[in-house]
Amino acid sequence: MTTNMSLFLSAITLLSVSFYALHRKLPVLTRTPRPAEPRNLSILLWHWPFGVSYSLAGDVCSIEYGIPGCLLSDNTSLFPHADVVVFHHHELRTGRSSLPLHLPRPATQRWLWLSLEPPANNGNLSRYNGMFNWTMTYWRRADVQIPYGKLVPVSPKSSNYLIPKKGSCLVSWVVSNYRPDHRRSQVYQDLRKQIPIQVYGRWPRRPLSERSLLPAIGHCHFYLAFENSIAPDYITEKLWRNAYEAGAVPVVLGPSRDDYEALVPPGSFIHVSDFNSTEELAVFLKLLATDRRRYETYFKWRQTHGIKRYTDWRERLCNICVSYHRLPAVKVYYNLDAWAKS
Ligand SMILES: *[C@@H]1O[C@H](CO)[C@@H](O)[C@H](O)[C@H]1NC(C)=O
Ligand SMILES: *[C@@H]1O[C@H](CO)[C@@H](O)[C@H](O)[C@H]1NC(C)=O
Ligand SMILES: *[C@@H]1O[C@H](CO)[C@@H](O)[C@H](O)[C@H]1NC(C)=O
Ligand SMILES: *[C@@H]1O[C@H](CO)[C@@H](O)[C@H](O)[C@H]1NC(C)=O
Ligand SMILES: *[C@@H]1O[C@H](CO)[C@@H](O)[C@H](O)[C@H]1NC(C)=O
Repeated sequence: MTTNMSLFLSAITLLSVSFYALHRKLPVLTRTPRPAEPRNLSILLWHWPFGVSYSLAGDVCSIEYGIPGCLLSDNTSLFPHADVVVFHHHELRTGRSSLPLHLPRPATQRWLWLSLEPPANNGNLSRYNGMFNWTMTYWRRADVQIPYGKLVPVSPKSSNYLIPKKGSCLVSWVVSNYRPDHRRSQVYQDLRKQIPIQVYGRWPRRPLSERSLLPAIGHCHFYLAFENSIAPDYITEKLWRNAYEAGAVPVVLGPSRDDYEALVPPGSFIHVSDFNSTEELAVFLKLLATDRRRYETYFKWRQTHGIKRYTDWRERLCNICVSYHRLPAVKVYYNLDAWAKS
């Protein structure tokens, strides 16, 4: 081999090694690379949802939720160093807070739009087109999905679920915000002509205390888990808490049966749209309540699953870090309004 040739070959080798190293992000010159300590992600909450703040002292994500490397802050002066800045929509909409458009935005920083409200409550989002990189909502298509609740597997051995003892109560409903124009109010008005419905809450002036809510519902065979807004994937604590946690079979009014089946145990609920009329639904409920064996099949999922509800904003925020590395590196919601309504 000529000197020239070998020089050429070494140059090629060196080039390809450095290219490989660069490409794989391997250190080129350090001889004994230390295993990289994973960098902490810094999540800045620009304002607290609904003005209610929680303590972020200590490493909350790690201590409370077992999610390490995820530092939450609500100190807006940390803006230049935040990996993700979270904006809860309600405060932007009401003008209690606003986007820091006057500040230089670091190139790698992501702005995240957060809302747990259905589209009808978010208003016109056109003014936020082109501002956000990521979204966090209960929708499956959000970058970070934060449902109101989810299923968690339990081992059959440890499952010892008992269906609460049923009394004479057939159906109950808890309602505070009653509006005659809600679809759920129309279904309720039709249904109550067929079967007795035990109604609680602020609207009928029969509020239940925190402690008596679930036992009262659990005493009944069925619970009307009727959402006040009908929108894809919008399944709230009305199902997860009021029905499942109380131990009543939910009669659901909300998104399509497909959405429910994707998000909750398929055989665990009765969908209003499965019936041609509320008369048919009423007949079905009366029959099912007297057929113990069939009624119990609605609880079969309890042998393998429990439920987990999300209620603390801190836990939701910590979950950004869990998703962070699989989220699209470069993304802009050029039309947030259309996305949110699709
Ligand atoms: C990450 O944050 C934790 C808790 O504040 C701290 O103990 C640790 O040193 C930080 N790690 C890095 C790589 O900065
Ligand atoms: C917010 O961060 C700044 C800069 O690190 C610091 O000077 C300030 O004391 C912090 N404010 C609060 C309320 O912790
Ligand atoms: C939403 O706001 C934009 C401008 O901010 C306006 O052009 C559009 O017509 C509005 N959409 C609706 C449905 O009101
Ligand atoms: C609803 O009506 C259709 C057509 O009339 C019928 O095939 C179907 O069985 C009915 N559904 C129920 C649940 O009765
Ligand atoms: C985030 O969104 C902003 C505003 O549209 C954009 O300028 C920036 O390039 C985006 N960043 C990434 C990493 O996608």
